[in-house]
Amino acid sequence: MQVIVTKDYDEMSRVAAEIFAEGIKANPEIRLGLATGSTPVGMYQCLIEKNKAGEIDFSKVVTFNLDEYYPITPDNDQSYIYFMRHNLFDHVNINMENVHIPNGQAPDIDQEGKDYDALMEKFGWTDIQLLGVGRNGHIAFNEPDDELVAGTHKTDLTEDTIDANARFFASIDDVPRQAITMGVGPIMKAKKIVVLISGANKHEAFEKLLSGQITTQCPITLMNLHRDVVIIADQAAAEGK
Ligand code: GLP
Repeated sequence: MQVIVTKDYDEMSRVAAEIFAEGIKANPEIRLGLATGSTPVGMYQCLIEKNKAGEIDFSKVVTFNLDEYYPITPDNDQSYIYFMRHNLFDHVNINMENVHIPNGQAPDIDQEGKDYDALMEKFGWTDIQLLGVGRNGHIAFNEPDDELVAGTHKTDLTEDTIDANARFFASIDDVPRQAITMGVGPIMKAKKIVVLISGANKHEAFEKLLSGQITTQCPITLMNLHRDVVIIADQAAAEGK
């Protein structure tokens, strides 16, 4: 596990964008696993700038997003498909046919999870997976629990996550209580994983990750089992202040 501590959020974003840009240059048909949340927004901004400058081409890039609220409609400005369009896809030359996000209004949500995994398997999983981390250590929407689920599945959000994400909604009552999330299986199948950790409120998750102890009660610690992980943390997350 490689750990890079940057002086601030902007440097974290630039360092991460560089890894993704190099990946796209080396393989224009690269399969990227993408994440939402406030943490990757700066990195997406850097990638948009690189695309506009002609440095990277998204036309053949294939993406799989980690998760989506359930139930939610795609036109809801808090849906993750809306987020991805707003923060990345609408500003780069990606082919939307190559974009995959779990369907937050699928009539059969269990089948949706199975189909999502089957599709990822058909593509040969992802080359680089981007991950943020919840302040409780969750990855995608795999919440701390006695057991974690391997496949893409519907899940209940914890009160802590509902509370953390309420800042994006008009009121906490508007935050969906469930989501469909990639399980830890497809995440761990990525060839490379890039984890972004920003802000003092993520310090506890950062410390647990670096402790080397692995526990389902802090899903980010599973990164210790993967052979190619780059952690990029800003100083606030690394030092907790
Ligand atoms: C959500 C997402 C996660 C993300 C987390 C952290 O719960 N499902 O993928 O890592 O938020 O978000 P933020 O970056 O806003 O702290």
